Amino acid sequence: MTLVSSSCTPSPGHDKRTYQEWSEQLTIGVPWIDGQHKHFFELAASIGREQDEDSVMSTLRRLSDYVNEHFRDEEGLMALYEYPGIDAHRKLHQQFRHKVADLLETAQELTLEEIAEEVRRLINGWLSRHIMTVDQELGTHIKTAETGETIDELAR
Ligand SMILES: [Fe+2]
Ligand SMILES: [Fe+2]
Repeated sequence: MTLVSSSCTPSPGHDKRTYQEWSEQLTIGVPWIDGQHKHFFELAASIGREQDEDSVMSTLRRLSDYVNEHFRDEEGLMALYEYPGIDAHRKLHQQFRHKVADLLETAQELTLEEIAEEVRRLINGWLSRHIMTVDQELGTHIKTAETGETIDELAR
């Protein structure tokens, strides 16, 4: 599939979108996972700043890869710590994977501003809410099961 299309054109004001920045409110208390969550906000913000279609599409693909990597790691932790909510949490991850895959497929028909807006909606909207609810619950489960040092060791 060709992801880059001539219909992806820069538009004035593309970099004026407001992106939510990482904040302590989004911390779940598991440093490894918190670091990955932070990276999502950095990737979303960089898509908002980029002015050419190659850069935007390249970052969008990196974002998609990172979604898969992050969910794989998070689901691995859930299994390791025998998290009782693993099935429901996995289903939510799967929904988000589909949303990102859909965006990758339709991006060639969108302007850069539309792509940035979709990314903003996914990261500042869906992912942010997900972190502050179900990921927080997972963090609490892990923290009560183990110390932060153990989680850090897992990340090495
Ligand atoms: Fe999650
Ligand atoms: Fe997460």
